Amino acid sequence: MSAPCCWCIVPAAGRGTRFGGEVPKQYLMLAGKPLLLHTLERLARSSVVAGFVLALARDDLHWPGLAEIDGVPIRTAIGGDTRADSVLAGLRALTDVAADDFVLIHDAARPCVRGEDVARLVVLGMPAGGALVAAPVRDTLKRADAAGRVERTQPRDALWRALTPQMFRCGELAAALEAAARAGIAVTDEAMAMERMGFRPLLVEGAEDNLKVTTPADLALAQFLLAR
Ligand code: CTP
Ligand code: MG
Repeated sequence: MSAPCCWCIVPAAGRGTRFGGEVPKQYLMLAGKPLLLHTLERLARSSVVAGFVLALARDDLHWPGLAEIDGVPIRTAIGGDTRADSVLAGLRALTDVAADDFVLIHDAARPCVRGEDVARLVVLGMPAGGALVAAPVRDTLKRADAAGRVERTQPRDALWRALTPQMFRCGELAAALEAAARAGIAVTDEAMAMERMGFRPLLVEGAEDNLKVTTPADLALAQFLLAR
């Protein structure tokens, strides 16, 4: 990849309810620095990020107020009640970016993202009109009945786990997220909002260890992965 090309929205306004504890998980210390800084450094070093918009909780007390990281500028926006609201707030802070320009979205809670996956997403996703990093499902999947017994085994051949980053055109993504909000549909990633509009995002295979820190066990695993 040559010149940096995309702004990257990083939703970091969550409360970490499933993780628990006083400090929101994006600010927990991991191998010597806050989880969120690992995430931003890894994205900055991918060389494809032109700038960050960090969506922060209104009452965030932990963000150190950095203006840039490794030379990549950082803006902030006030996030919303859901992840999708926070991403929309980030998009609205990009008034100087053209509607046709692509924007990356990456969860603050995924500190193990690899620069080469971000770069590949950009290269493959632009001609496809939008894409997401994903990993094929490896486990055998069971569908449960109401009694908690296996009803059947679900074929996994065509199933993927949706990860981030994801990349879409700014204007199309904003319209898709607004439409989902109007319809009262809770979209759990950007691709889902785009799919509702009839778009078919490209799946770009990425490293399976790009985990989202959701529970304390995930944090221990992320610590191990980052220390390697
Ligand atoms: N996020 C956000 N705004 C929200 C909710 C989530 O910006 N209103 C962000 C989180 O900070 C995180 C990412 O979206 O980086 C993925 O969300 P998730 O892992 O669910 O984090 P939390 O919502 O904080 O955790 P929980 O669902 O356990 O409360
Ligand atoms: Mg959440």
